[in-house]
Amino acid sequence: MSDQTGALPRHIAFIMDGNGRWAKARGLPRLEGHRKGVDALHRTVDAAIEMGIEYLSFYAFSTENWQRPADEVAGLMALLRAFVTKELEKLKKAGVRLRFLGDQSPDGKLGDELCGLLTKAEEETSQGDKITVCICLNYGSRAEIVHAVKALVQSAADVDSLSEDSISSYLYTKDIPDPDLCIRTSGEQRLSNFMMWQLAYAELMFLPVAWPDFDAAHLRAAVGDFMGRERRYGKVLSA
Ligand code: FPP
Repeated sequence: MSDQTGALPRHIAFIMDGNGRWAKARGLPRLEGHRKGVDALHRTVDAAIEMGIEYLSFYAFSTENWQRPADEVAGLMALLRAFVTKELEKLKKAGVRLRFLGDQSPDGKLGDELCGLLTKAEEETSQGDKITVCICLNYGSRAEIVHAVKALVQSAADVDSLSEDSISSYLYTKDIPDPDLCIRTSGEQRLSNFMMWQLAYAELMFLPVAWPDFDAAHLRAAVGDFMGRERRYGKVLSA
């Protein structure tokens, strides 16, 4: 975590909201909004690399998103499949290390074949040294915490050994620093079950722009705003 005013955020998390409304406003199918959302994700990764940001996380598909219409779910899965196949070379060339965070259990909803592609993409990009990009997929923060606590209880000798650090060590983000900044686009002001443990001390920004329109200038402005904020972690830093 970066904890000094004026320091770059090490890790920025994004709730990519507003794709559907962006499409609707243009008389386009919702999936077109998601398609343009993938372009915005690539733009953001490129701009973050240029700025020297080390980690990005994107909330791509929540455990609740399965309840969307079947054609939208299928369309999102097709975009994801293209991301880890056709678009992988571009990401590798840019020096991206990919990580997928979320429920990939063998009997889970993502299915074996897609999970295999995700693992392959993680392996193929494991040497990426410019930035780590986490795609949160079939992800829900409460489910993540329940999963971590269950694993911990199964492995822990006694209840007294439970601690914040031990729970953190079983989260999907166990080897990734907590986000310093969380940006949600489209003006909605909520976390929607996203990284609730990891965002405990993050700076939050709710921007009025729809995710498909998010660009490098928005990112630079948000980082500039972040760098001017004083992070106190419950302490008093200046009189
Ligand atoms: C929220 O907007 C967005 C999503 C639920 C999906 C975000 C997914 C992508 C941008 C593409 C998939 C990512 C990869 C890596 C291939 P919304 O549809 O809820 O927008 P609305 O609130 O305007 O309806």
